[in-house]
Amino acid sequence: MSKLIIGNWKCNPTSLNETKHLFEVIQRGIVKNKNVEVIICPPFIYLAHLIALVKGGLTFGAQDCFWEQKGAFTGEISPLELKNTGCQYVIIGHSERRKYLQETDEMINKKIKAVLKSRLKPILCVGEETRDTFNSEGKPLNEMSLMVGEQIEKDLANVSAARIRDIVIAYEPIWAIGTGNSCSSDDAMKASLFIRKTLTKLYDRPTAEKAKIVYGGSVNSKNVNEYIKGANMDGVLVGGASLNGSEFVKIYEISSRF
Ligand code: 13P
Repeated sequence: MSKLIIGNWKCNPTSLNETKHLFEVIQRGIVKNKNVEVIICPPFIYLAHLIALVKGGLTFGAQDCFWEQKGAFTGEISPLELKNTGCQYVIIGHSERRKYLQETDEMINKKIKAVLKSRLKPILCVGEETRDTFNSEGKPLNEMSLMVGEQIEKDLANVSAARIRDIVIAYEPIWAIGTGNSCSSDDAMKASLFIRKTLTKLYDRPTAEKAKIVYGGSVNSKNVNEYIKGANMDGVLVGGASLNGSEFVKIYEISSRF
């Protein structure tokens, strides 16, 4: 499985010029590599501009989408529009959307199904609110298992086993996002095992093995190896550090060594 290095630019940069500059720095530093897939998720408004500039080695994702493919839904962007623009991935259920836009698991489930229907790959974000602890047998206590387990069950309701290979699950503990307070590789690994166990319960073991699980939350070039190598994650979802082109390229270079 190739590793996924995903840059979530969130609501940045604020002009097309700055956006192009950031993109050029990243594009210069990334070479086509079968072991690593680099996915850039800029704001919607810049997607088509950047897709027109790409020379290879990079793929694109959106940060959200609607659950209908077209019609009278003012202000919404559909998975079909994203597909036709050249996107391959869509981040769904980011904690910032759950928090500021009151996105519910039911809405997220509809979006996941719409994204899959358009042959795009959802990057489903899950994660608990506060830092969790594990007991001596490594069993997660309370919040992580409760929240992440419930999110996965609800967000993937009625998604068939055959589609799990197209889904990326991003474990993004809310307490680690934008705080510099990153999760230990041990805890990230336990969360990833818990996610696979939940998928095994919902589907079966071979299906659970096919999902890609990435970590997000204060990832940078100094700690990325803890997740890629230490926690054996399938990749990372990078927020703040992806807005610094050379730092993001460093994250990519380190990840391609493993
Ligand atoms: P930071 O890397 O800024 O913590 O953001 C993580 C994130 O939310 C990526 O989706």
